[in-house]
Amino acid sequence: MINKSDRVAITGCGGMLGEAVHEVFTDICHVYASDIDVNVAWLDRLDVSSSKDVAKYLAKVKPNYIIHLAALTDMEYCELHPEEAYATNTDGVRNIADYAREHNLPLLYISTAGIFDGEKDEYNEKDIPNPLSVYGKSKYAGELIARDLPKSVVIRAGWMMGGGPKKDKKFVNKIIKQLQVGIRELNVVTDKYGTPCYTHDLAKSIKYILEHELYGRIYHGACQGNCSRYDVAVAIVKYFKLSNKIKVRKVTSDFVKETWFAPRPRSEVLTNIELKKIAPHLTRDWKVCLKEYLREFTKEIN
Ligand SMILES: NC(=O)c1ccc[n+]([C@@H]2O[C@H](COP(=O)([O-])OP(=O)(O)OC[C@H]3O[C@@H](n4cnc5c(N)ncnc54)[C@H](OP(=O)(O)O)[C@@H]3O)[C@@H](O)[C@H]2O)c1
Repeated sequence: MINKSDRVAITGCGGMLGEAVHEVFTDICHVYASDIDVNVAWLDRLDVSSSKDVAKYLAKVKPNYIIHLAALTDMEYCELHPEEAYATNTDGVRNIADYAREHNLPLLYISTAGIFDGEKDEYNEKDIPNPLSVYGKSKYAGELIARDLPKSVVIRAGWMMGGGPKKDKKFVNKIIKQLQVGIRELNVVTDKYGTPCYTHDLAKSIKYILEHELYGRIYHGACQGNCSRYDVAVAIVKYFKLSNKIKVRKVTSDFVKETWFAPRPRSEVLTNIELKKIAPHLTRDWKVCLKEYLREFTKEIN
């Protein structure tokens, strides 16, 4: 059990997932939230790529759990800046893992569906990764470092939904932003498949797994079901009752290859067999989670 006196360090906590993880853990224990980008008052500044800063920070806050979320998540940026991507997404994990190993601490690492090559239609926890992009390769190298620890947990997340208007950098907000500027036609790819992952459910899964000390395991942290990017865009347009006004055009990845040039697997569909065994209530259908997220998102805009 995690108690009021426990101390949890959360890196990269200023991002989409960090928002939800912070909310869950501040209710139950002391939280030491950090990020390279101090975008809210409750964050300390910590660059995980600096081994010196990581060692100094963790020695100061003396956590008994570490949740490592920090990563460069912009796939195109990673393609263009591979050294920085590896320094953050791989060496950053090593810096954190060194401290965790020395102090025999549990380290929970968030990996990604992007470590698979997309040749299969869907991926379970035992499938062999074969990342295509710099982002995927650097995250998988980080995963291997985390897995080497005696008390590690790896959760591979699907397409992230969360963070709201201020923090969501991904697909849902990209579509909403286009709707907000009054676009009449959206071009959305039909040839990329995945499983969305709702940050609030994932944060609860993180808590559940740490509370039950389910170390040494790999989980797939994603909603139930799968979809294409096109399906998600159509669901968003429908939610805002804009289906009569906005045309969602089906395109292939070729159409957007200039903008989204990082290699992306055809399928990032995750089956969450292990998570369903332990916490089926945290693997809700992606459409239910998307609606809940859009409701929260709209409240924040108004
Ligand atoms: N977003 C997705 O679709 C997705 C899918 C699967 C798995 N994941 C994984 O989930 C975890 C959480 O990501 P997220 O979705 O919350 O994305 P996010 O919003 O980009 O959050 C990551 C946070 O880490 C910060 N960061 C970047 N470099 C850092 C450094 N050197 N030191 C400390 N912090 C640093 C980022 O700051 P900046 O904003 O300044 O870069 C950002 O605040 C990551 O490990 C990511 O790889 C994400």
